[in-house]
Amino acid sequence: MAVAEFRNEPATDFGREENRRAYEAAIRKVESQFGRDYPLIIGGERVTTAEKIVSRNPAAPSEVVGTTGKAGPAEVDRALEAARKAFETWSRTDPLARARILWKAAAIMRRRKHELSATMTVEVGKTWPEADADTAEAIDFLEFYGREMARLAQAQPLTRLMGEDNEVYYLPLGVGVIHSPFNFPLAILTGMTSAAIVAGNTVLVKPSVHTPVIAAKFFEILEEAGLPPGVANYVPGDPAEIGEMLTTDPRIHFVSFTGSAAVGAKIHEQAARVQPGQRFLRRVVAEMGGKDAIIVDSEVDVDEAVLGIVTSAFGFGGQKCSACSRAIVLEDRYDEVLEKVTKAAQALRLGDPRRPEVQMGPVGSEAAYRRVLEYIQIGRGEGRLVTGGGAPEGLGDGYFVSPTIFADVDPHARIAQEEIFGPVLAFFKAGSFEEAVAIANDTQYGLTGSVYSRNRANLEYARREFHVGNLYFNRKCTGALVGVHPFGGFKMSGTDSKAGGRDYLLLFTQAKSVSEKF
Ligand code: ALA
Repeated sequence: MAVAEFRNEPATDFGREENRRAYEAAIRKVESQFGRDYPLIIGGERVTTAEKIVSRNPAAPSEVVGTTGKAGPAEVDRALEAARKAFETWSRTDPLARARILWKAAAIMRRRKHELSATMTVEVGKTWPEADADTAEAIDFLEFYGREMARLAQAQPLTRLMGEDNEVYYLPLGVGVIHSPFNFPLAILTGMTSAAIVAGNTVLVKPSVHTPVIAAKFFEILEEAGLPPGVANYVPGDPAEIGEMLTTDPRIHFVSFTGSAAVGAKIHEQAARVQPGQRFLRRVVAEMGGKDAIIVDSEVDVDEAVLGIVTSAFGFGGQKCSACSRAIVLEDRYDEVLEKVTKAAQALRLGDPRRPEVQMGPVGSEAAYRRVLEYIQIGRGEGRLVTGGGAPEGLGDGYFVSPTIFADVDPHARIAQEEIFGPVLAFFKAGSFEEAVAIANDTQYGLTGSVYSRNRANLEYARREFHVGNLYFNRKCTGALVGVHPFGGFKMSGTDSKAGGRDYLLLFTQAKSVSEKF
């Protein structure tokens, strides 16, 4: 196989005039597509439904980015049959031929890069660099998982026995369901889908109801790349109506989910039940929430720590499972760090992310807006409000929430324990480094964490004792790169499935060991 070594897709340099112009042109292009309808795609056919999902711009909710079909039980049934039929041939297709479709899709994404990013700017409120990073990560997943399948397709090195021929093959599982989230509506959707299909499975994809348009564009790309009909089926729908069927139907071999801990736990439980007629144990891959902490030690470069906290807490409005929602600071640095983080948060430019200078857009939906404001109310009773505290003035009817900081929060308060998924940061004072790590570990989650310290012994202590799936030192706790930081968490953060790592494809395969005696 003569494919180049994997390299991460570079970020676009928006300091360059030609890149800014290209992004502005892409925004105009996606605005000209507003109001388009995107039907379901089942077995390669466009299926229009009477009911629609309406996708709105969270910065200006009167703007309809697009409408899509809305799958009900009948469409899910049809999609399951299409996927089952496609599995017969797709599972027997040469793994390298499957990988080449991913690589072709990556090339198409590169060509449509700014259009895809701009779609996320208007559909979910991503700033230019955040949207650009999302598209880059999607390209990375396609490139990386294609290479991973090529690697797995080569026989595993086995201990050789005289007179026998032994091989291990990685076979797909069957039909799976991809439940993808709104917050990385292209990257995570692409990663989850491409890993499952390159391994030879066929899937139904249910994107978030808040981001079905970017998902429809992903399907256009898969089609153009030559993915055969039925291998991936586009079935956006209301989780209340089709969620359970998409977890428990006896034709479903695996469920790959990214979302909240509450929904993930429910899916895990429902999926475990063996249904009448089901002849296998269903697998669940779940990537759930976080209540991620950044610890700031006494011996530290304070300005670096401040930058890391602000970026991790308020990048994409804190709507990342990896986001920093807790800053745990050693007491001798507490006042200084709190003051500097507060100043930096107040300086963030909030607004419609179609404008290049905007550093924080709206939260992704009306439901998110209400939830975050509710948590801010709870926080007012649990800590000292230092900045923010609600919706800013003068930004119209978009779902904007000011960067909000609470100080002196009790580690067991609700805002210290529950995932808010918005721009809300709580500060905690620790008397010792050990106490800081203990506070950091004391939630149901274990996804990301970061430590800013120049103390070698403390870094080694954290390396051992800070119990998270992705631990970072002297760096922000968001922005895991494919192939560099395999991503996934402990405890109620999920099944630690390490997206973007070399173990990930194995989750969608079963190994068959074949032995022939000569
Ligand atoms: N993988 C994403 C990050 O690391 C969630 O920020």
